[in-house]
Amino acid sequence: MSTHGSGRRRTTIRRLLEMKQTGEKIVALTAYDILFARIVDDIGVDIVLVGDSLGQVVLGHDSTLSVTLDDMIHHARAVRRGVKQALLVVDMPFLSFQVSPADTLRNAGRVLAETGAEAVKIEGGSERMADHVARLVEAGIPVMGHVGLTPQSVHALGGYRVQGRDGDNAERIRVEATRLADAGCFATVLELVPATLAADITRASPVPTIGIGAGPDCDGQVLVLYDALGLNDEFTPKFLRRFADLAGEARKGVADYVASVRHGDYPGPEHSHD
Ligand code: KIV
Repeated sequence: MSTHGSGRRRTTIRRLLEMKQTGEKIVALTAYDILFARIVDDIGVDIVLVGDSLGQVVLGHDSTLSVTLDDMIHHARAVRRGVKQALLVVDMPFLSFQVSPADTLRNAGRVLAETGAEAVKIEGGSERMADHVARLVEAGIPVMGHVGLTPQSVHALGGYRVQGRDGDNAERIRVEATRLADAGCFATVLELVPATLAADITRASPVPTIGIGAGPDCDGQVLVLYDALGLNDEFTPKFLRRFADLAGEARKGVADYVASVRHGDYPGPEHSHD
């Protein structure tokens, strides 16, 4: 068993497989900076993902397409400093793994070497993607797959919409999930697919499925941290439950600070040096 100071079990890929076999739910969340990474890790999340959702929730882009490899590495290094127990996975951003096998290997190698993460995630399950995955795995780089709604293909998919509602698309997503597992992915994210399709894929899959908007029967669940904590009150998809109201709390706190400074209530004598 691998432990890290506190005696709690450190998440390994082998442990995730064990959790699938025993039916223990795998819990994943995203993080983009050290303070949230530390909280998420302390509470006992199994997987911390530095998602390229970074593009929207931290950098203010309209999509993930503008996120660069350097952006991912910059934030992953910060997150690494806060994650002691969870498995740290970093998204490969747009065009860092689609161009050529050599580029993919070099870029994924940079992510692991420069951030200290344990694995990368790539989107898509075509034969070409599966070849890339196989090469990375052969080089000793663990890969998490991602099928269903793959946000880097948002324009090709015609928007952020549920995937696999019709027979042909459902079959394509099933085939992609199998292909990625065969290529060596240690887990696969299923994003925004019907719950029944996710349940079928999960039953058939030898590796854990991690759902987001994919119903309750996946082996685990992942959410974008700021969505889960209610920091982004403009984002209200059907699949999301808000587990806190950080936007509300932050507004209250900022308003209180502004009023306190304006009225001369802050700083008080207790905050001032002799
Ligand atoms: O970028 C991201 O945060 C993701 C998760 C939503 C799975 O890919």
